[in-house]
Amino acid sequence: MGTQSVNELGHLTIGGCDAVQLAEQFGTPLYVLDEAAFRERCRAYREAFQSRKPDTQIAYAGKALLNLAVCQIIAEEGLALDVASGGELYTALRAGYPPEQIHMHGVYKTEAELRQALDARIGTIVLDNFDEIARLQSLLAPHETVRVMIRVAPEVEASTHPLIRTGQRDSKFGFHLMNGDAERATAQVLTEPRFQLKGFHCHIGSQISELDAFAEATRAMVAFAETIRQRYGYAAPVLNLGGGLAVRYTPDDAPPSVGALAEVMVQTLRAECARYGYPEPALVVEPGRSLIAEAGITLYRVGAVKHVPHERRDIPQTYLIVDGGVSDNPRPQMYGACYTALNASRAHPHLPRQPYRILGKHCETDPIIEWAELPETRVGDVIAVLTTGAYAYSMSSNYNRYPRPAMVLVREGQARLIVQRETLEAVIQHDLPAR
Ligand code: LLP
Repeated sequence: MGTQSVNELGHLTIGGCDAVQLAEQFGTPLYVLDEAAFRERCRAYREAFQSRKPDTQIAYAGKALLNLAVCQIIAEEGLALDVASGGELYTALRAGYPPEQIHMHGVYKTEAELRQALDARIGTIVLDNFDEIARLQSLLAPHETVRVMIRVAPEVEASTHPLIRTGQRDSKFGFHLMNGDAERATAQVLTEPRFQLKGFHCHIGSQISELDAFAEATRAMVAFAETIRQRYGYAAPVLNLGGGLAVRYTPDDAPPSVGALAEVMVQTLRAECARYGYPEPALVVEPGRSLIAEAGITLYRVGAVKHVPHERRDIPQTYLIVDGGVSDNPRPQMYGACYTALNASRAHPHLPRQPYRILGKHCETDPIIEWAELPETRVGDVIAVLTTGAYAYSMSSNYNRYPRPAMVLVREGQARLIVQRETLEAVIQHDLPAR
């Protein structure tokens, strides 16, 4: 994946940098981001969609991983940006990312967040519920206008982990179709002269491998847009069909290519528009994971090798304890997520392998990988967990009061620190004494 290889020392390299040296220079755990691999995915997305439909905008979903350097890269790659909070918006603005290219999501945007979005004059606010419509109206001056979209729950059940499904009938996100909310919201927005309605949005979930679910959502959205056109005479200039494409975490995963996703979305959109004689809207997609996951790896150092005689057959008896875990990547615990690991210190593909269970160092059972086949591994070896670019750093915590790891950007043999390792002082900086 990406620019990973093995050098003459038998060490894993990424972006031309020796992973063992990176671990020594910057410490562990360490997030490593492969700049060429990330830029390659940005281009692959643009090419896949824009070759089929030139008026497609690719917006990066910042929740997957956002910091100043990532904002700069996506700006250079010509991607728009989806932010889901005041913190993500603040990061983008501080990075000098162009505000008109930003759209803001969220099921509860507070008054302060809406104010922040209005003051920065961001591109679009994506409305999620009636209370938010009222909140935004109350913040607008008499002649102040704002571009908005309406988030619709298309009531499509995508097959993925239930916690990351978002467009189904019981979803908390958006205006629902079946109960008439999506139509009522549209009617309300159309009668408010300070709202400029750009169109409709949906997002059905994350880590989705089934292309049919995307086709179904597209059909539901065009059918809804057509109903609105018939009843209110409004044709949507833009349709945003969200993100959600799966990536390959282990050899068992077989996600569709970006080209296959683009083909299904664009063809379905065209066919449905043709069926109703609907003027074809511009398209927006907002992938997060499938742009950045595979460009990231996490490096850990092995601190203990334990032989644990137990009866279970589904996990090995040799445990590797590494210097990170649930605080730098909660996904295995939250979603039972599976990853692939390499021993970066002994990365030759021909070495004989044995099974290990890789666990973190927190005060609970925090397996990172339940079953990893690695060459004989010793204390001090560097372990690389692959495909951690999305939703690891962005979901990290200070659990057990561990400082968050650093992040380096690697490219052509150069490593640049883009997130400093937190210090212990930073961990306590907001604490105040009891008396
Ligand atoms: N658009 C909206 C409105 C979203 O809510 C999301 C993700 C995306 C786009 C990007 O989806 P992606 O292309 O990354 O699948 N923490 C979970 C993932 C939560 C996804 C939330 N929304 C995980 O670690 O698997």
